[in-house]
Amino acid sequence: TAEQFDTGVLAGKTVYITAGPTREPLDPVRYISNHSSGKMGYALAEAAVDAGARVRLISGPVNLPAPARMERVLVETAEDMLEASLEGIDGCDIFIAAAAVADYRPTAVAEHKIKKGAEEIMELHLVKNPDIVATVAGRPDKPFTVGFAAETRDLVDYARGKLERKNLDLVVANDVSAPGIGFNSNENAVTLVSRDSELSLPQTSKRQLASQLIRHIAERYTQTR
Ligand code: CTP
Ligand code: CA
Repeated sequence: TAEQFDTGVLAGKTVYITAGPTREPLDPVRYISNHSSGKMGYALAEAAVDAGARVRLISGPVNLPAPARMERVLVETAEDMLEASLEGIDGCDIFIAAAAVADYRPTAVAEHKIKKGAEEIMELHLVKNPDIVATVAGRPDKPFTVGFAAETRDLVDYARGKLERKNLDLVVANDVSAPGIGFNSNENAVTLVSRDSELSLPQTSKRQLASQLIRHIAERYTQTR
């Protein structure tokens, strides 16, 4: 497309993008997960390829076809997603964490289907998953690292907290309580939060938003190198 020729802002760069939910098994037939569709991450991957990047899309289980022109690694659990994210990370210039990673997983996976007991209340024991984007951003030679923050209140405050705590370069803050945007929708509206700035991008299609985000990310990446 024409876009590939006039906006090769990421030509020669390697971009890793995590997308979709993770799925944490409880027994052979059950798991813990969330409603992430993967649409935002997949749209970002397309936009990054359009900008000339070599893209590795690390995707949890989604109902989206494998996109052309990039490498897609399919994973299930957060631990698998971390492993796929660290593979070849030294060659990664920009890391974008769009996945909705399950914060906790069952402490143990039952070998057989868990049977219904006599008790009315069942307790699940969960253990914290590794933080993928924080692990990447904690590396000595870290890539330019972009996280998402899905919030239902105090959007910018929480996003800034994540930026600092996880040592990120940029946070894409997303109000998931607003109707018509976020998780399963085709549209989104975000606020870009960095150490010294805030920028709101108004509601539009995830496709449109993805190409705007890639332009901003490329610009800031270039400024920091
Ligand atoms: N993330 C990650 N690995 C995790 C959890 C989150 O890489 N185990 C990434 C997400 O992909 C996102 C960012 O961290 O880019 C923020 O995710 P979010 O769920 O909003 O933040 P948490 O730190 O998990 O905090 P909380 O869910 O309590 O708001
Ligand atoms: Ca979380």
